[in-house]
Amino acid sequence: MLLLGLESSCDDCSAAVVEETDAGPRLRSLVRKSQDGIHGPFGGVVPELAAREHLLQIRSAITEALAQAQARWRDLDRLAVTQGPGLVGSLLASFSASKAIAWREGIAWVGVHHLLGHLNAARFEAPGLPFPALVLLVSGGHTHLYLATDWTSLQLLQKTRDDAAGEAFDKTARMLNLGYPGGPLVDACAVSSRHSAEPFTPPKFRDGKASWSFSGLKTGVKLRIERNPRLAEAGAEDPEVQGLCRSLQEAIAAWLLKPVAAFAAEHRAKSLIISGGVACNSRLRSEAVSVAAKAGLALAIPEPRLCTDNGAMIGAAGALLPPCPDPWGQNADADLQLALRPL
Ligand code: KG4
Ligand code: ZN
Repeated sequence: MLLLGLESSCDDCSAAVVEETDAGPRLRSLVRKSQDGIHGPFGGVVPELAAREHLLQIRSAITEALAQAQARWRDLDRLAVTQGPGLVGSLLASFSASKAIAWREGIAWVGVHHLLGHLNAARFEAPGLPFPALVLLVSGGHTHLYLATDWTSLQLLQKTRDDAAGEAFDKTARMLNLGYPGGPLVDACAVSSRHSAEPFTPPKFRDGKASWSFSGLKTGVKLRIERNPRLAEAGAEDPEVQGLCRSLQEAIAAWLLKPVAAFAAEHRAKSLIISGGVACNSRLRSEAVSVAAKAGLALAIPEPRLCTDNGAMIGAAGALLPPCPDPWGQNADADLQLALRPL
């Protein structure tokens, strides 16, 4: 089965051609149009600008993806597109394009939940991964741990009470004036450091419920900058800035992975999947190797270009879902809920 996967839920406009084979999905092409230059001066995504840019980019993203895969419309068996959640103006660009193409070319169509896409990015890496699996989805908007019984059935185990882990990276980069997007810049800065700064204290929850909190990190970084205002202007070459970034990502990686062993034992999990933009983080990736090994879990983390938002993951998820009989009755949904199974 040959699919065209489209994703434009935030600030990346991406199209990919994916071939679903008996041995799992194969990536035939992947095009990603970055908007970093547009949102950079604002230090974050400006929804209206993102939507307008997607309208300009979607056509060439699709044309290039088809050309690179040497595929024509008639070779495609299915169109898969992100239905939500995300910024509605951004979502609509690829969503409307996909419906128009499905109508014009008579191609089967399926709408995909963004997080199901992130999960299925791991199928490129490890199509035969054993289940049940713990699934850690970490991005700019989500920090969720699920139990998956297969590639499309999830049960929620825990999630953040406030900020997503990606926000902690992005806001730290903004406070340190490192640039945009923050995650990769904080990561690069941390990797250059020789020593960590003072560690960040993990949050404590009085109600004892399993969850995370990352908003305290923002305050923690802010207080350190107030104590030492030089940090805000010192830049990525400064050893103290580097040490601070290192402590931050050590804390985030450790906190994210802390619940893995206990949940793995409780649910007899066989694997650990980590995906979403923050799964590009070097510290999280290296720590995950030892945490998974200790807990006896097979580990799958997609290659970095498949961790951040991309059309390939939407194609891979769309291959496993039933096509929609009425694409024209469907709409993009900024708050689309993932159909979860009860624990
Ligand atoms: O999944 P994604 O591309 O978009 C959303 O669905 O949000 O994730 C984007 C997030 C941003 O917060 C970005 O800073 C973060 O992923 N990110 C990273 C790294 N690369 C991207 N965070 C930490 N380290 C990285 N290397
Ligand atoms: Zn995402």
